[in-house]
Amino acid sequence: MGKRIIVFDTTLRDGEQAPGFSMNIHEKLHMARQLERLGVDVVEAGFAAASQEDFESVKAIAMELKTCITASLCRASRGDIAAAWNAVQYAKRPRLHVFLATSPIHMEYKLRMTPEEVLTRTREAVAYARSLCPDVEFSAEDASRSEADFVCRVFETAIDAGAGTVNFPDTVGYATPDEFADMIRYVLTHTKNIDRAVLSVHCHDDLGMAVANTLAAVGAGAGQIETTINGIGERAGNAALEEVTAALKARADQYDGITTGIDMTMLYKTSRLLTSLTGQKVQANKAVVGENAFAHEAGIHQHGILANKKTYEILSPEELGIPTGKKMVLGKHSGRHALEERLRELGYDPDKMDMDRIFADFKVLADSKKELTDRDISVLVEKDHEQISEHFALIRFIINSGNTITATANIRLRDGDEEKEEVATGDGPIDAAFKAIGKITGMDCRLESYEIEALTEGNDAIGAASVRLSHAGSIQRGRGSSTDIVQASILAYLDAVNKLIAFS
Ligand code: KIV
Ligand code: ZN
Repeated sequence: MGKRIIVFDTTLRDGEQAPGFSMNIHEKLHMARQLERLGVDVVEAGFAAASQEDFESVKAIAMELKTCITASLCRASRGDIAAAWNAVQYAKRPRLHVFLATSPIHMEYKLRMTPEEVLTRTREAVAYARSLCPDVEFSAEDASRSEADFVCRVFETAIDAGAGTVNFPDTVGYATPDEFADMIRYVLTHTKNIDRAVLSVHCHDDLGMAVANTLAAVGAGAGQIETTINGIGERAGNAALEEVTAALKARADQYDGITTGIDMTMLYKTSRLLTSLTGQKVQANKAVVGENAFAHEAGIHQHGILANKKTYEILSPEELGIPTGKKMVLGKHSGRHALEERLRELGYDPDKMDMDRIFADFKVLADSKKELTDRDISVLVEKDHEQISEHFALIRFIINSGNTITATANIRLRDGDEEKEEVATGDGPIDAAFKAIGKITGMDCRLESYEIEALTEGNDAIGAASVRLSHAGSIQRGRGSSTDIVQASILAYLDAVNKLIAFS
């Protein structure tokens, strides 16, 4: 077995700061727990100095994680470093991640600092961070467009001041794989004290080369990789964790058997959790976790697969935790114990889940579907995070709709301890339902987006609705799933309304 490299996940920082991927504190905590289960070594929980909300999220994640290192990003200033420390100090294993740009263009136009000033600031910032926290990482922002010898001097300074990890980012996704590998080899041979630190890489995907550059750097000797789930991140995103780790596994022959602590069977689940938390799907042909990644449509391929899976599959769906079409032997008469057993087989830990809710949902679903697949079960489990606080809950709805009449919705909701009912008409059943809910809640919400998708196959497929609602300056996402798309839509709308109330 080859060397074990460190996986630093920045889904909750670089990923979360990209437009459309913001998460509330509960969603971030949910994701952080899943990243720990996945086996990442470092969770970058956020940028504590960015806002009070970011600070609270970093602190909550720091208090939650049991085995991973929790990192907070900070600029090379005392204020940022102190804020980051105030948030991560609660972690079992805290890390401060200080960054400062080193490229000529960033130093001249953004920082307005000379190279000498950058060296001085690096020393002061890292020393201050190190006086607070035993684990400090230093990033030379835009390193790939910096003068190589200067980056080596900056790294030497950071290591002397106490940094245990120095990170070489391809901030604007400009490098090519051969060139990036050369840069990593150069830094490893020209930074005098590099033996006292781990060399990390952080690649962006502006030219679609983030994964290739990360792998090239690993081949050249990098000891830490910075990645995100589904490759989310600033602009075109960061190197996708699932792609880099799958490549290291499938092509161990090319990477000296280098390993990570990632539990590959958790990859798909983690990817799906992120899409359901953010409402941002991955494209069907996405490597490793896309819906088509293991679909074999062409007859000749199907023939090959039936004869020997390795004809067209370099990794099996099972290795990546992708649920197959396997039917559950469970039905509506099955007990909770049998469901828990099946969840364990699928890689979940029922002891840590809200089994009362999951089992209740399972019974409802088993009543409306004859056969439940592993996908149905995954959907039930992923639903578990949806209900943060249920101020408004659906009791029942009646819809009257058709192509020659105006759609009418009659909705009855629980509103705290009371029950309320309203009727409304609209442009179709969903619009009518949303208007009736609006009358009950008294909240004049604007529907920013609405999407519906089939989560499972067949006539009795589970449909998932996602909405984004804005109200009084804040926006929340809501999701709902059901075999009935009107019900899924109502549940999604209520989920978003409840979040707007909870986070107002
Ligand atoms: O892309 C980048 O340079 C970064 C640093 C802050 C590590 O995200
Ligand atoms: Zn970045």
